[in-house]
Parts: sequence; structure tokens; C-alpha cells
Amino acid sequence: MPAKPRKILATSALPYANGPIHIGHLVEYIQTDIWVRYQRLAGHDVTYLCASDAHGTPIMLKARDAGITPEALVERFRAEHQQAFAGFRVDFNNYYTTHSEENRELVEEFYARLDAGGLITQRVIQQAYDAEAGMFLPDRFIRGDCPVCGTPDQYGDSCESCGATYSPSELGNPRSVVSGTAPVEKPSVHYFFRLAAFAESLRQWLAGGHVQEGVARKLQEWFSAGLRDWDISRDAPYFGFRIPGTEDKYFYVWLDAPVGYMASHRNWLRKTGRPDSDFDAAWDAASTAELHHFIGKDILYFHTLFWPALLEGAGFRKPTAVHVHGFLTVNGQKMSKSRGTFIAASTYLKHLDPEYLRYYYAFKLGPGLDDIDLSLEDFVARVNSDLVGKVVNLASRCAGFISQRFDGALATSLDAPALYREFVAAGGSIGAAYEQLDYGRAMRETMQLADAANRYIDDQKPWVLARDPATLPRVQLVCTQGLNLFRLLMTYLAPVLPRVAEQAAAFLHAGPVSWAGRETPLLGSRISTYEPLLVRVDPGAVSRMVEDSMDKPPTTSPAAPSPTPKGPEATTEIELADFQKVDLRIATVLQAEAVEGADKLVRLTLDIGTEQRTVLSGIKSAYAPADLVGRQVILVANLKPRKMRFGISQGMVLAAGGDAGLFLVGPDAPAPPGLRVS
Ligand code: 2FM
Ligand code: ZN
Repeated sequence: MPAKPRKILATSALPYANGPIHIGHLVEYIQTDIWVRYQRLAGHDVTYLCASDAHGTPIMLKARDAGITPEALVERFRAEHQQAFAGFRVDFNNYYTTHSEENRELVEEFYARLDAGGLITQRVIQQAYDAEAGMFLPDRFIRGDCPVCGTPDQYGDSCESCGATYSPSELGNPRSVVSGTAPVEKPSVHYFFRLAAFAESLRQWLAGGHVQEGVARKLQEWFSAGLRDWDISRDAPYFGFRIPGTEDKYFYVWLDAPVGYMASHRNWLRKTGRPDSDFDAAWDAASTAELHHFIGKDILYFHTLFWPALLEGAGFRKPTAVHVHGFLTVNGQKMSKSRGTFIAASTYLKHLDPEYLRYYYAFKLGPGLDDIDLSLEDFVARVNSDLVGKVVNLASRCAGFISQRFDGALATSLDAPALYREFVAAGGSIGAAYEQLDYGRAMRETMQLADAANRYIDDQKPWVLARDPATLPRVQLVCTQGLNLFRLLMTYLAPVLPRVAEQAAAFLHAGPVSWAGRETPLLGSRISTYEPLLVRVDPGAVSRMVEDSMDKPPTTSPAAPSPTPKGPEATTEIELADFQKVDLRIATVLQAEAVEGADKLVRLTLDIGTEQRTVLSGIKSAYAPADLVGRQVILVANLKPRKMRFGISQGMVLAAGGDAGLFLVGPDAPAPPGLRVS
């Protein structure tokens, strides 16, 4: 135990409960978990908190599309996320939700205190409104032609084609993603937090070493531009907490999200029977406990300006540190579904050991904001050469002799105590690297030690010593030394490789791993028979994982075009009777809307004369939903209804497609809906 254990709260950003956790998210959770595990191994008292970020328009609309309540959607993703995190051995003390009573109470308390302090103002603003859906539209829910380059179907805030940023009112031919109609401007009263009141104290806080240098520089730019009031309200309908004293105003999701860190803490204290005073001890303005937030650079503004200001305004302590990391690229590029590099945590876990990725990320992570690249080829080579080639091989090289020649008993003294001391001493620098989030350095220094340990075994050659009865006793000494060095390597890797470290400790009968425990070598005790602790990464498994992550049109949309057959051999001959089984009907598009959360899907409501059908069709890349209304298409009417992630599709509309584009097929003149096509 260290002289005085530190009391630490650590958090990772709360993921939105509306999509799967992927390897990009995992950079942060693995980064935080490694830091937390290091602190625990060093004897400190760490509480690692997280939760689902439950509120906001996207979650509300996604639930609506799925025909379930937002609460049910959030709980579904919360469970899925917890499973993914557990799979990667991210060891939260609590994983809660922002849609909780604890959070509601705290948010209301924040609001009441800020309001009492004169820090909330109201103003009327003009905002885009979807009159058909009866709701105000966030920028991302308006699409139209880019005002700069003219590319159609761009988001209301930025163009994916030319990268321009703008406001939704500048879009050409703007459309609401919700109903497909053109938005109108409508006034509404909004509530604002007076951020500028905190300019001076934020400046001081930022000068106090609570953020990395790169972050401080970025913030300086924002300060120079002037701090503006922050809009903290949204109009109904909205999934969130209603602002007390109003009928139709809700707190913006970004207000209650960071408060969710506190709610998760309070929930954990109550759940585990700890006193409520622990909450105050952690969050009071005068708290001496540490508070560390881990976030990505995209949400810097919220955590380094709004959040400290909100905390101060409401009379709470400010963070000890906000640690900001960069983004992930895969093979040097943005993650991409078509390249199969947009890899869900659950897909990774189907194919590979989570500790490979934990090691690779650790190897790549430094203390700065730089992006990190996961080169899949380098990933295989690095893990195989370092973890398998240098670390676990050391154990297997030594353990066989101890088990077979000495009945599992270690020698009672060290052969090279100076070398052991050198390894113990290195723990100081490696620990400091973990503390400073310089995991790359921690890994490099550990691998240098692994090289030294292997050199020692290579020099001593126990396999030669074992051939001569006179030198046999030295084999026990040399292998005992080797296993003790291995144990120190595993101690240094334990924050990164918790499963391997635990199994290594069990095989060595070494007791729980701790930083302090490295001082005392294992002598005279027994070990178990060695079982492989980690196998080589199979490059085939990596390829299969990539293949598994590729966008596969047939599974995302029944109407997505299949590749154009290259020649007659690509199709199968069928009988006329087979073709006659297909019931093709003329259908008129009554409604068309983009499916929220799906890149390619349009939800079509079709009239087929006798009834209406809902069909999810993968044609968004070629058709704006609004342009489809009134058009006639051909429906495969007797196709078995298909349950998709975004709802049930009752049939499929015909489209020709391939490299040349996508073309809906229809009658060449208006035809009665329901007419049979043959
Ligand atoms: O950007 C995001 O994914 C947010 N859900 C992060 C919230 S972090 C905290 F403030 F809750
Ligand atoms: Zn553009």
C-alpha cells in the first residue's frame, strides 16, 4: 500500500444508447480502464463510473421508428453496451443511465442553484420547425443541397462532400429528415446559461494544469473569440427532463449528460450501502478527492468549458483533470463499413481475444491528442512478436524445466539478484508512464525488459545445462530467475492484460498482483503446470472479422441492388412455373421518408389497390424521399414479410442496379395500383 492512498473518481464519456459500441469507442474505454487498473494496483482507491447517455432527439426518433418507448430503446442498448464493455474487461464500478431519478434530482438542483445565482437567462430564438411532424429540428435533421458545392442530400450543418460548414437556413431545397417536408422558421423561448460569467475562473482553472497543453491552446482560441451564452433548453417533443416550472421545455441532453457522472456515483453509493456523505466528500467545492474525466477531442468544449462552469455555478468542485485523446483510424483511414473496418465490439469478440486489442491500443497511446492508427497487419505482427514471442514464451521456456525436473519447485535463491533489482527499479518509471497516460512508453520499457530477460535465458542456456547432472541444479536457479522476471513483466502488463496477468499469477501461485508485490521474489514455492497463456494472433481470424464487418446489402435492405451479373453463367435458369410464383404488382408511393439511423433505407408506404404496405428499401443513395411520393413502382407482393433492424418490410420494390447506378422500375404510364405484372 502507498503511504496515503488517493481517493479518485474516474469517468469515461457516456455513450449514446442508440448504436453499437465499436473499436473507435474502445480507445477511450480501454485507455481509462488501463489507468484505473494501474491506480488500483498501486493501492489507490478508485471508483470508475459510466452510464448510458439516454436523452435527445435522435434517441426519441429512433425509438419511434422502432415502435418502442425511448426508455425501452435505452435499456436495450445499455444492456448491449455493458456486454461489450465486459467483453473487453472494462471494469466499471457502476454503469448507470442518465434517464434516472438520481440524475433528474441532480439536474434540477443544478438548475435551481444556477437560476438563484442569476446565471440563467431566457431569449426568443428562431428555429427550423417541421410543421408536419410538429417538432423543432436539430441541424442534423435537416438535409438539402450544400450551399457551397451543390451536392444534394447534405446535413444541415456540414457537407460530407466538400467539408463546408454552414447553418441549415443556407441549404438549398431543405427537407426535414423526419417528414420529408420543407422546414419553416418558428420562434421559441429558450433558456441560456451565462457562460461568460465564468471567463476569469475558467482561465485560471485552465492555467492550473488540469488539461493537456494542446487542449489549453485550443481553448485559448475559444477564449479569444469570446464565450457565448449556452442554449440549455429544447422544445417538446423531446426525450429528456422537463424544466421545472415549464410545460413544454426540456433540458438539452448535453446539460444532463455530464451530471450523469454524479448520478452514477450517487447510485453506486446507495446500491452498495455506502454513506451519502461520500457523495459530498467527492463533489463539494472543497473536496480533496480527485476527479478525472477521459474524453475524445470532439467533446472538449463541453467538458472543459461548460462542465467546469456548471459545476462552479452550482457550488460543486471542478475536475482535477480532463484527459483528451484523439480518434482512431484503421489502416490509415477513417473507419469504413464498405472496407469492413467499422468493427463492432461484438464482432471483434467473435473472432479475437480482447487483450490483443488492449495491448495494441496501449502500445499506440501517448499522452497527447494525436489520432492513433490500427494497422491490422502491424497489429498481428506486434502482438505476436511482443506478447507471444517475448513475454509468454519466457514463461513456457522456463516452466517446463521446473515442472519436469524439479517437481514444480522453485529454487530458494535468485541466480542474478542485480538483474531482478533492475527489473524492480524499472517499475518506477513504468508506473509513472501509466500515471501520465504515456502507455506507449510503458509498453516499450516493458518490452526492453522482456528482451533482457530472454537474453539472460539465451546466455544461460538451461537446455544445455540440463544435459549434465553436474549442472542440473543451475537449471532450477536459472529458470526460477526467468520465472521471476516473467512475473515482473506480467505485473507491468497487468493494467493492460488483466486476464493474462491473473492466470499468470495463478500458475505461479503468486497471490494477487500489485505494484508493491514486485519487490519480493517468489522463492522456494511451487508452480502449476504451464498452460499457454496467450496464443498467436491468427491473421485469418482478422480477415474473417473484417469480412464480417462489411456492409452486406442483402442483410440491410431487401431492395438493395445485387451486383450486375457479369455473364450468362452468373444466373441460374428457372422454370416458367418458378417465375409465376412471384406476385408482382403495380404500387403507388403514398409516403416516403428516410429511416433514421440507416444510411441507405427509405420507408415507403405503398398503395396496392386492396391495401397499403410498408416497405423498407435501400434506395436512399439515388432518390430523395420527397421525390418518390406519387411515383409508381413494382412490388414483389408475396415476399414473406421481413423483420429488419428498423422495422418490418412487407415486400420489396424492384430496382435495377450496379456500378452504373440505381434505377427504380415502374410502369411507363400511370397504371391502376394492384395491377398484376406478368
Ligand atoms: O459524444 C457523446 O457520445 C456523448 N454521449 C458523450 C457524453 S459524455 C458526458 F458528458 F456525459
Ligand atoms: Zn459541399
